[in-house]
Amino acid sequence: MIPAPLGLLAELTHRCPLGCPYCSNPLELEGRVHEVDAATWARVFREAAALGVLQIHLSGGEPASRRDLEEIVLAAREAALYTNLITSAIGLGAERLARLQAAGLDHVQLSLQDVEAASADRIAGYSGAHERKMAFARSVTELGLALTINAVIHRANIDSVAALVDLAVSLGAGRVEIAHAQYYGWALHNRRALMPTREQVDRAVQDVEDLRARYAQRIVIDMVIPDYYARRPKPCMGGWGRRSLNVTPSGRVLPCHAAPTNPGLEFWSIHDHSLAEIWRESPAFEAFRGTEWMREPCRSCAMREADFGGCRCQAMALTGDAAATDPACELSPMHALLGELAEADSTANLADYAYRGRSLRDRREEEK
Ligand code: SF4
Ligand code: FES
Repeated sequence: MIPAPLGLLAELTHRCPLGCPYCSNPLELEGRVHEVDAATWARVFREAAALGVLQIHLSGGEPASRRDLEEIVLAAREAALYTNLITSAIGLGAERLARLQAAGLDHVQLSLQDVEAASADRIAGYSGAHERKMAFARSVTELGLALTINAVIHRANIDSVAALVDLAVSLGAGRVEIAHAQYYGWALHNRRALMPTREQVDRAVQDVEDLRARYAQRIVIDMVIPDYYARRPKPCMGGWGRRSLNVTPSGRVLPCHAAPTNPGLEFWSIHDHSLAEIWRESPAFEAFRGTEWMREPCRSCAMREADFGGCRCQAMALTGDAAATDPACELSPMHALLGELAEADSTANLADYAYRGRSLRDRREEEK
């Protein structure tokens, strides 16, 4: 029996003013002309609710780049879905945020790059971004909307983990995600400039433990552990085709954001099939659902129903075989390679990023 999905990530657009070097969007971005229109999103949200989905995450790119975002939020509300906006805050002032709230927005997830503006703006590839994010966070809480701060952690900001949590508390967030970079897409491309050392990771993990004790009643601190320094893998996406779906700006439906990096998978589109058909029957969702596809050591492992063999996209990226055990697992024959890669990258002394989409110089010239 195929379980019902709980969440749907709607990638409304790949357009974004920022250029974060760890962006989860693909290296080949989908263009504006292919974006799904608001009426089709409304149909998809109704189908998602009928399928059992409870939460819609409106993401991108920057979802505020869509002029019809209010209409899309309203459609999610009319489908009785809890609506979360994942935003960089650029292009989203207090007035527009109030309109989104009136349309039915429930929750805002704001990304921060660092605690200091100079470093944060360098990471984002956009000057003035941090200051706008601070003002935006205040608008979110003044309107009484729930706020989560999301901080992707890597070599340039890992020593600021405690300060980032302090900042999230001072902004009135109810939750903060300390999400160590996951190396797919742009992050894989920039891995040598992003990878922290093992000592930095150990310190950051300990910092989070201490902060959880200190802020027990004030903020929930979630942490995503960096795979390259882990002994066991994460249950990526809560299991392939088990809990959630991603819909790309052009309407392709994916089991996870990096799924297209697995060659040979066939993705169906919302333009050709209902969401229920895609969830239950599409070849991409069937490919790694459950445990039947597993080989040893996963096939006979007691953890196979808990971590589902880790991440298919990481297995593909590092072994060339999406059905292999995720090398983040110490039982994988490739596990030692991960430690060697992390060690080499973390000491690479490389500080220049390949910014998502465009270079920093291009952006500065554009802003003049
Ligand atoms: Fe998980 Fe496979 Fe490792 Fe077992 S062998 S812990 S199922 S990744
Ligand atoms: Fe695709 Fe983990 S990112 S399965």
